[in-house]
Amino acid sequence: MPQPVVELDRVGKTYYTGDVETPVLFDLSFSIVPGEFVAIVGGSGSGKTTLLNLMGLLDRPTAGVIRVEGREVSHLDELGRARMRRDRLGFIFQFHYLLPEFTVLENALMPCRMRGREFEKSREARMRELLTYVGLEEKLNVRPPQLSGGQQQRVAVVRSLANDPAVVFADEPTGNLDSKSGRMVFDLMKRLSRESGTAFIMVTHDDNFALEADRVIRIRDGRIQAPPGRHEGTELAVAAPEA
Ligand SMILES: Nc1ncnc2c1ncn2[C@@H]1O[C@H](COP(=O)(O)OP(=O)(O)OP(=O)(O)O)[C@@H](O)[C@H]1O
Ligand SMILES: [Mg+2]
Repeated sequence: MPQPVVELDRVGKTYYTGDVETPVLFDLSFSIVPGEFVAIVGGSGSGKTTLLNLMGLLDRPTAGVIRVEGREVSHLDELGRARMRRDRLGFIFQFHYLLPEFTVLENALMPCRMRGREFEKSREARMRELLTYVGLEEKLNVRPPQLSGGQQQRVAVVRSLANDPAVVFADEPTGNLDSKSGRMVFDLMKRLSRESGTAFIMVTHDDNFALEADRVIRIRDGRIQAPPGRHEGTELAVAAPEA
């Protein structure tokens, strides 16, 4: 079995606000292998975004261990975590968060900027190629407000791959789109995942998308409802049955 890109070992999360304790995630263990396309589903408030934030190093667990590409991330200080986020992880959110004063190409390259001009230059050809792949070759020099919602989200998908990450986290990336644009964005994510070998972990409320993932992790009240099992590489995707 290849080294997992993300591994959770008995991870839990409790939020502490003043005197109030809110336990949200309990005892989650699973691993994601390179190139895997995983859907996370579950009701509102079940802990999906919290889980994504932990795996994406945007927040810290209060129990258990998370490893990214074999490295235990709790051993990293804030700078180390920021570096790992920048260099190895990609993010797509429900809202595109494109910068309106920059062009489509500049927006796609934005994550590379923080690694210096040289690096940004070295990624330009690839970003042009990916923007062409998602059907935006005519829009490279246009600014985001002149794009449709679906086109904006396609730029956000390309941007998530700017630094050639090991894994992309997507929190309801189609949640804000009509069904046709949502389908297009989803298909592109799947194809890009196959083509680039990047793992995608996507929170979705759309059961059709979940069924097309390699694997479904179903969260209920902060627990994995049906154990996803260890992915053996050849194992077929099976959606957990409804309880
Ligand atoms: N910063 C926080 N402090 C305290 N409680 C929080 C915090 N963030 C989230 N929660 C609580 O944790 C639980 C899970 O929230 P989370 O946002 O992970 O749910 P979700 O599954 O993403 O829901 P949705 O589908 O609505 O986006 C909720 O009960 C929420 O109120
Ligand atoms: Mg959420």
